[in-house]
Amino acid sequence: MSLWNELAKHQRACEGRHILDLFEDAGRAADFTVAAGAMRLDYSKTNIDPQARDLLVALAEESGVARARDAMFSGAKINETEGRAVLHIAQRAGDEAVIEVDGADVMPELRAVRARAYGFAEDVRAGRILGQGGAITDVVNIGIGGSDLGPAMATLALAPWHDGPRLHYVSNVDGAHIADTLKGLNPETTLVIVASKTFTTIETMTNARTARDWMATKVADPGAQFAAVSTSLEKTAAFGIAPERVFGFADWVGGRYSVWGPIGLGLMLAVGAARFDEFLAGARAMDKHFCDAPFAQNMPVLLALVGIWHNQICGHATRAVLPYDQRLARLPAYLQQLEMESNGKRVGMDGRDLERQSGPVVWGEPGTNGQHAFYQLIHQGTRVVPCEFLLAAQGHEPELAHQHRLLAANCLAQSEALLRGRSLDEARAIMAAKGLEGAELDRQARHRVFPGNRPSTTLIYPQLTPVTLGQIIALYEHRVFVEGVILGINSFDQWGVELGKELATALGPVIEGADASDKDPSTQALVAYLRAHQA
Ligand code: F6P
Repeated sequence: MSLWNELAKHQRACEGRHILDLFEDAGRAADFTVAAGAMRLDYSKTNIDPQARDLLVALAEESGVARARDAMFSGAKINETEGRAVLHIAQRAGDEAVIEVDGADVMPELRAVRARAYGFAEDVRAGRILGQGGAITDVVNIGIGGSDLGPAMATLALAPWHDGPRLHYVSNVDGAHIADTLKGLNPETTLVIVASKTFTTIETMTNARTARDWMATKVADPGAQFAAVSTSLEKTAAFGIAPERVFGFADWVGGRYSVWGPIGLGLMLAVGAARFDEFLAGARAMDKHFCDAPFAQNMPVLLALVGIWHNQICGHATRAVLPYDQRLARLPAYLQQLEMESNGKRVGMDGRDLERQSGPVVWGEPGTNGQHAFYQLIHQGTRVVPCEFLLAAQGHEPELAHQHRLLAANCLAQSEALLRGRSLDEARAIMAAKGLEGAELDRQARHRVFPGNRPSTTLIYPQLTPVTLGQIIALYEHRVFVEGVILGINSFDQWGVELGKELATALGPVIEGADASDKDPSTQALVAYLRAHQA
């Protein structure tokens, strides 16, 4: 029997079992918690028992995760549909690292660009590079997808370390985004970063031109207050950005994996090179753990296996990421791209249809806000949503430590409630104590039942620091990779975004009045409405 079938059979056999029963094993909480540095991942509140874990670990081994991991770290072209190496790990590799692509060490160039980016960021922060009206007070990063989500999420996450100019991120082609961002900024003291790997992305290039026009209203040389992060030096030059203000990176860094290099320029400007180095060191520590730890104690591997268990074996189609850490508010959005652009695919590496579901829908919001919004469904809806909680032992506001304790209590309460639930007898006792009886007691009690037995994991860490943030992001990157390998997916291409882009390009002229007769009737009607209602 294949491991997939064994897992399915085992899952069916344990379906009626309550997760709480697994804690009859007094060592479970410790045994189902894995450490990486000071960080802990507790996956004991899932229905994974020792046998399921053994089977899952065997699945990872049989799927060639170790071989694929080693191939990735060695610079092999594992992104087969694009013929590229996958080397985001090079961007955070140590000083001694030698990583070759096509026989050439890529590290010297990478270090040189990083040094230039650090130098630029520190010059701006120290006022050695000025705007045309004085010191740079604001930086607007224009980018989308991986050229926005990673740096925007990380900039917010590291707010306690901000001692540089104010950072603003603009991504949406909706003019409202850039208009609202630029309102109140002074072109003379604003630096604009155009962050686009390809430098062709329509949203980014449109916003970049809008920003340049805005800049030109007040400064003599708009290009002088622009910087670019891109792999395409010709296109940045054509836009009017001087080569010393352009920070490149190779095509073997995928957009959604690019925060570690020059795409992180906004973060470098906000927190400085030293803190950015710590961020890289955190990721490097997770890389080392991923490469060295045996699978049964390997945090990214186990997080991936928990994901495989919930999505592919138990059939839970979504997972919620719930950071009890306000500064990780953008983590769910960041993970939506990382996970769904990487593993949202229906064809495997071999060109054949997947035999299983692709990666899950990922969603979430920071706690405790989510509690007052969608936790109702998580606790009492008919579908099970595996939850992934994140929690720091301490916050950054010592004077508000009591609020952090309240936050932590809420986080632990939610995973406890998901685990335990509330039985009908308990609900009846509560309603009886309120004076209800008979049929009304029964009716009211049923609404107050929580089925419980709902799985969750908790990632807990001392504090959200640059090091911790680096660890967390690298953890999720490797988790996605391991899940992709097990599913036989290439996690590093994104063909699924192309069709919409092509059709949008074709629809632009149609909305402006070109012939729409080859469009479907629904699209034609929507175009007609737009034409009728546009000023
Ligand atoms: O939407 C697809 C995508 O290619 C993402 O993978 C990428 O992060 C984003 O667009 C932005 O691309 P670029 O950095 O080339 O502008």
